[in-house]
Amino acid sequence: MPGNSFGHSFRITTWGESHGKALGVVIDGVPAGLELSEYDVQKDLNRRRPGQSEVSTPRSESDSVEILSGVIDGITTGMPVSMMVWNKNAKSSAYDYIKNIPRPGHADLAYTEKYGIRDHRGGGRSSGRETIGRVAGGAVARKLLSQKGIDVFAHVAELGGIKAKPLSFDEIRRNVDSNVVRCADTEAAEKMLAKINTARTEGDSIGGIVEIIATGVPAGLGEPVFGKLDADIACAMMGIGAVKGVEFGAGFECAGMKGSQMNDALILSNGKVTPESNQAGGITGGISTGMPVVCRIAVKPTPSISKSQKSVDMGEMKEIDVEIHGRHDPTIPPRMVPVAESMMALVLADHMVRSGRIGPDSLL
Ligand SMILES: Cc1cc2nc3c(=O)[nH]c(=O)nc-3n(C[C@H](O)[C@H](O)[C@H](O)COP(=O)(O)O)c2cc1C
Repeated sequence: MPGNSFGHSFRITTWGESHGKALGVVIDGVPAGLELSEYDVQKDLNRRRPGQSEVSTPRSESDSVEILSGVIDGITTGMPVSMMVWNKNAKSSAYDYIKNIPRPGHADLAYTEKYGIRDHRGGGRSSGRETIGRVAGGAVARKLLSQKGIDVFAHVAELGGIKAKPLSFDEIRRNVDSNVVRCADTEAAEKMLAKINTARTEGDSIGGIVEIIATGVPAGLGEPVFGKLDADIACAMMGIGAVKGVEFGAGFECAGMKGSQMNDALILSNGKVTPESNQAGGITGGISTGMPVVCRIAVKPTPSISKSQKSVDMGEMKEIDVEIHGRHDPTIPPRMVPVAESMMALVLADHMVRSGRIGPDSLL
């Protein structure tokens, strides 16, 4: 299975490499009748793009999106929507010196073992640039979801061991883009920034935790056994490069809790049976409860670092010390925010279409 497509009824296929000519996405299953412009997609791509701040790679790309199909006079036609972005600032020769040297922590060795060849120019498809297609597809999913009152947003909850204080959803939405770290707790954001700068000076990198929240999700999304909503979201998140863990609601802390602490008591609210709290993160039995879906992902430190590490020159088959120079994100979580939002939106849009709550063929 080639593994470049994701979703069932609302399905994306992404294509392109970091230093190839272009990257893009084909989305099948967008119902007819959705208003869609390049601006809708560009605003999400702008939050993802490199070179946007001092905490992202200095590669300078405008990532201007072109919609190639599936839209006429600003309205989707029900046909596949394809979109692309040209690569304009690839400096591939910067990677020549590691053509035969797999970077520790990156996908280089695994790709070489599997395919016998790898695109060493910026990591090819294992590059963070691959996420352009996800974010472009996610922008369409978000637009569909917004028509049903579903909002998806994310923020950096922890970076380099610095934790953001708990904030309300409104505060997170309001503050998340107020600083380059994308941490809604502005005091913590300053400390995170200092940590990034220290790591950079040391030729090292740091990781963190991104929290993704979806509000307005109706009860009843997800299938009982092999199509669980949390399983689909976990698959979506784990499919992003550098994501090493996923948790929902109380998450891994539940292992140390008592049932009485973990359970969400049920109460009557306006005549409806409703969970009083949300330790479950909006999903029980693989099916949404109507509470906000709350998911956190652990993002590892950027693998390409200039600190010396051991690797092997696979041309000469000898051990060497390697320092990775060039243009890299000193930390990934700030750029992960729009990517993780997109993956959440894609899963929710797929379940909304599959369950008949959106479309499936037309909104007209
Ligand atoms: C938005 C984004 C940006 C990334 N930027 C870099 C980078 O600048 N340098 C790097 O070595 N890895 C970067 N990565 C991580 C690699 O893509 C990832 O570590 C690699 O594909 C190996 O996959 P794994 O970490 O899931 O095992 C980035 C990932 C994402 C999602």
